[in-house]
Amino acid sequence: MLDRRRFLALSSTALGVGALAACGSGGDSGSGGDGGTDVEVFTWWASGSEKAGLDALVKVFGEQHSDFTFVNGAVAGGAGSAAKDMLQSRLQASDPPDTFQAHAGAELQDYIDAAQIEDVSGLYDEYKLTDAFPKDLVDRLTVEGKIYSIPSNIHRSNVVWANAKVLEKAGIDTKKAPGSVDDFLADLEKAKGAGVTALSVGTTWCQVNLLEAILMSELGSEKYNGLFDGKTAWDDAAVTSSLEAFQKMMGYTNSDRDSLDWPDATQQLIDGKAAYNVMGDWAEAAFQQAKLKDGEDYTYFPLPGKEKIFGFLADSFTLPVGAPNADGAKAWLDTLSSKDGQLAFNLAKGSIPARTDVDESQFGTYSQTALKSFAEDAISPSIAHGAAVPVAWLNDLSDATSQFTTGASDLAAYQKALVAAADKYAS
Ligand code: GAL
Repeated sequence: MLDRRRFLALSSTALGVGALAACGSGGDSGSGGDGGTDVEVFTWWASGSEKAGLDALVKVFGEQHSDFTFVNGAVAGGAGSAAKDMLQSRLQASDPPDTFQAHAGAELQDYIDAAQIEDVSGLYDEYKLTDAFPKDLVDRLTVEGKIYSIPSNIHRSNVVWANAKVLEKAGIDTKKAPGSVDDFLADLEKAKGAGVTALSVGTTWCQVNLLEAILMSELGSEKYNGLFDGKTAWDDAAVTSSLEAFQKMMGYTNSDRDSLDWPDATQQLIDGKAAYNVMGDWAEAAFQQAKLKDGEDYTYFPLPGKEKIFGFLADSFTLPVGAPNADGAKAWLDTLSSKDGQLAFNLAKGSIPARTDVDESQFGTYSQTALKSFAEDAISPSIAHGAAVPVAWLNDLSDATSQFTTGASDLAAYQKALVAAADKYAS
C-alpha cells in the first residue's frame, strides 16, 4: 500500500532527487540563500508530463529573468502526497524554499494561519494582476484583504477518461457519455466483459479523487459544497449512496492500485489495459505526451450526475516568510503570472490559464471543454487537491478511505469516520 505514511517514509529518497536536481541546475552551487541568483522553486512536478509543464514555465522564466537561475526543488509524489509533509518540516525548521506550490482555498489557509507566507497584494499592483484573474479565484487566495499567492492555472478534477478503442471493443458508444453514475456503472460492467481492467485507479489520493467526483455527481454542487461548512451532514443519505457507488466502482479497479501513482494508473489506459480512469485533467497532458489522438484514441466526459459541475482546483505560488531569495521568488511570480508564462505552462500542463486574458484559441479540444465548463457550470472545490478542506482534514479523510479500500470494506464504519473528521474540522 502506498498511502500517505509510506510516501512520507519514501520522501527522504524523493528529497535526494530534488537536492540532486538543485545542484545540477543551480549553476553556482545551489546556495540561493544570500539573495543571490538561485531561486529554489518547490513543487511536486518531478517527472513525466508534470515536469514538462514545469519545464515550459522555466523556459519563459529564463527568457524574462535571465539574471536569475531556476533551482528545481521538486519532491516526487502526485498531489503533493510526499511534498506537503516535506515542505512542512522545512517551514518549521525555518528552511523555506524561495517559493512553493500551494492549492488555492483551504490548503493555502493552513499556511496563512501558521504565518508561513507573506501577503503579496503589493505584487498584484506592481504586476497589474488585480483584474487579470477571476474574482472567485482571488477570493480563495485572500484573507482580510490580503492576497497570499498568485495562481498559475486552473485544473478540473472530475473527469472520466476512456480508451476509445477499448470502449469500441466492449461495445460501448464512444460518442455518447453516460447520463448518470448508474449508467456509468453499467458501462464499467460491459468493459469488464471485454477482459480489461474496467477502471484504473492509483493509490489513496487517487481514490479520494474518485470519491469526490462521485460526491459531486450524487449531491449536486450546492449540497456538495455544504459538506465543508457544516450545511450538509456527512451522514446524509446522499453521502451513503455516494459511498455505495464508490464501493461498486472500486470493485471494477486494478488489484495493484495501492502501489501506483496517477501516471501509472493513467498509463494502463494509454496502453489499452484499462477502459476508464477518473482523474484530474493533468491526465490530458499525459495523453498529449503519449501522442494519443483526441476522439480516436481517447475520449472523456465529466462524471455524470445531478448537474454539470466543474470540480475545481488551482495551483498557486507563494512568497514564504524568510525566503532566502525574495527577489528571485518575486521574479518567478512575475513570470508565472505573465500572459506568456500562463500560456506556455498551461498548454503543457493540461490545465487552463488562471488569467482570463490569455489567447484561448491556442488550446486543444479537451481544454476548450474545460474553458467552457469553468465559464458556465457550477463550481465545486476539490477535496483531494486542497481547495475544499485543510491538510489535516484531508489526512483523516484519506486514512479512512485507505482503511475502507484496503481493509474490511465496512461502509458504515467508513461513513462514521468521515462524520468524525468533519466534526473535528468543519467550520
Ligand atoms: C494536483 C496539482 C496538479 C497536479 C496533480 C497531480 O494536486 O494541483 O497540478 O500536479 O496534483 O500530481
